Amino acid sequence: MASESIHGMWSSRLMFILAAAGSAVGLGNIWRFPYLAGENGGGVFVLVYVGCIFLIGVPIMSAEILLGRAGRQSPINTMRELAATSGASRLWQGVGWMGAIAGFMILSFYAVIAGWAISYIFQMGSGAFIGADADFAKSAFTSLTGNVWSVVGWHTLFMAITIFIAARGVGKGLETTVKYLMPALFVLLVVLVIYAAATSGHFMEGVSFLFSLNFEKFSWSAVLSAMGQAFFTLSLGMGAIMAYGAYMPKDISILGTATIIALLDTTVALMSGLIIFPLVFANGLESSAGPGLMFITLPLAFGQMPGGQIFGVIFFVLVTFAAITSSISLVEPAVAWVVEKMNTSRPVGALAVGGLAWFVGLGSAFSTNIWAGITIIGDMTFFDTMDYVANNIMLPLGGVLIALFTGWILDKKIVEDQMFADTTYYPLWRFLIRFIAPAAVMVVFIMTFI
Ligand code: PFF
Repeated sequence: MASESIHGMWSSRLMFILAAAGSAVGLGNIWRFPYLAGENGGGVFVLVYVGCIFLIGVPIMSAEILLGRAGRQSPINTMRELAATSGASRLWQGVGWMGAIAGFMILSFYAVIAGWAISYIFQMGSGAFIGADADFAKSAFTSLTGNVWSVVGWHTLFMAITIFIAARGVGKGLETTVKYLMPALFVLLVVLVIYAAATSGHFMEGVSFLFSLNFEKFSWSAVLSAMGQAFFTLSLGMGAIMAYGAYMPKDISILGTATIIALLDTTVALMSGLIIFPLVFANGLESSAGPGLMFITLPLAFGQMPGGQIFGVIFFVLVTFAAITSSISLVEPAVAWVVEKMNTSRPVGALAVGGLAWFVGLGSAFSTNIWAGITIIGDMTFFDTMDYVANNIMLPLGGVLIALFTGWILDKKIVEDQMFADTTYYPLWRFLIRFIAPAAVMVVFIMTFI
């Protein structure tokens, strides 16, 4: 098997960690985690979420890295080749295909929300929110999302940035981006947590909201959301981490690296909660505001705080950086596949994939304006449907298949060869990947959908 990928390689372990953590840390941590925790009542949701991260997420992330590094190609071709060498059905290649489709579905709404975040950098910077009331904050959001031209404009800008970076390739594009944006992101996060702690006067309320357990809030649909969120936030189940694993040098421990990435990701999610909730409580606002939490409630809170204009700008720059380092991993599996399959250059692959994702994204961009009345499943718009189906169904399903393939199908020699540096925890990982991770996902599915 190849020892290097034709697409390029990460130059060190640190670069792989930054890239994979960059993929993991994104809108999922800053926008989605706090509002899901808010909607589902805080502590219990957080506990289930953290449990899913370490019992299901870390083993599956390790499996994805392992598969990627063993195959050294796009997830679609990696799955095909590994299934063939293990004497298994060609159908396993479907895992790669399903992942690529999930990637388009996720990117469709991801780029739209990231576009809103970019526009909020300017809205916060203009000072419009200083002293503003709740009606103003609401109407600022609805006039942005209700205007099809602004939404599509920002969405297009975000997609163009993603395509530009992907086109430059693994070394010059992806690695250079994460090398600068990830440390910047971390500094901004720390600055904002200190700001929330120092100025809100309600920091401990935020802490107790996230960490105190109220079991009345327990429900299986909350558990499904927590599990879906664990997959989404770690970028699992669709091949993003598999694609990145293909560029990982051979001598690096997989389990140790996956654990570090999961810890970084969880830390960022909790820090985001510790930025957002104290500001929300300090201003007597609702923690259960749903997806509008970051775009309506938070700007309103910043508007009431000392220095809120500048810290509001910092916050939305942070969100934008986090979204960029994730979206480049959402397109990577498909870009790598196009380059392999069509034998074309990165720019052509990035344009083809990014262009298609942009087009699918129009459906999500229209969901808050000209298609607002059109529902696909139940009362869910195109946007909501993409989010729900991709995160709660396709990612966990892809994750289970990856776990089953790695645990039961893949030639054991390949597994042990990749895990050579992980002998201590290898038996534990193997137990989790063969039994616990698939069973846990199945139980949550069954309990939610019966
Ligand atoms: N993990 C990203 C986030 O939390 O925002 C989203 C994501 C990126 C999901 C890449 C899936 C993926 F393959």
